[in-house]
Amino acid sequence: MARLLRIDASARLHGSHSREIADYFQTRWLQQHPDDEVVARNLLRDPVPHIEDATISGFYTPASEHDAGLKTATALSDQLIEELMSSDLLLISTPMYNFSLPSVLKAWVDQIVRIGYTFNFDPDTGFTGLVQGKRAVVVTATGAVFSNPAMSAFNYLDPYLRTLLGFLGITDSHFVSVEGTTTDEAAMENSKRAAREAIDHYILKTA
Ligand SMILES: Cc1cc2nc3c(=O)[nH]c(=O)nc-3n(C[C@H](O)[C@H](O)[C@H](O)COP(=O)(O)O)c2cc1C
Repeated sequence: MARLLRIDASARLHGSHSREIADYFQTRWLQQHPDDEVVARNLLRDPVPHIEDATISGFYTPASEHDAGLKTATALSDQLIEELMSSDLLLISTPMYNFSLPSVLKAWVDQIVRIGYTFNFDPDTGFTGLVQGKRAVVVTATGAVFSNPAMSAFNYLDPYLRTLLGFLGITDSHFVSVEGTTTDEAAMENSKRAAREAIDHYILKTA
């Protein structure tokens, strides 16, 4: 039995295109892997707080030296990292907001990117991601059509998430996009169809 960690970031609780395609992924995945477990975090219903001064102190103080205050300040990060490390597949669904990721997703990222836990740094060898042996599927929804070469320079969402996942050690990542959700209905329907086909293909390939 494997564990799928699902992170949803759209502010829309109804009518979200990224969530719709992530639902499709989850349904298809569970058809193929009925014994798998899904751990879901809806970042709108259950927002992750921003890191604070004490969180950062906790991140850079060895856990063995944490007093009660630092233990409290890092408890949520510990829990979110445990969720990530104990999962086999990470499914993120996210819209583009203002060319990048929603702040609720960034708040989650800031809690889970932690030295000694999810990455290490060595002055001689540089950074090493510690989130090894996992796969990721990222579903994005954008109002504009970023597969149009004239728009690609404005897309700070996919490149950011790709870099982040690679930095953490998740090199096996698969991106599925729904485009044109506010500007081009035909493009949106086409990309939804392509997204479902890509998911079907992915699930067969990884079965
Ligand atoms: C606050 C806000 C900012 C947005 N910024 C962008 C943007 O920079 N580029 C873009 O293509 N679409 C932008 N959109 C449109 C969303 O990406 C689009 O509606 C997407 O479908 C939202 O995801 P969802 O359907 O999963 O909720 C923005 C929407 C909102 C609400």
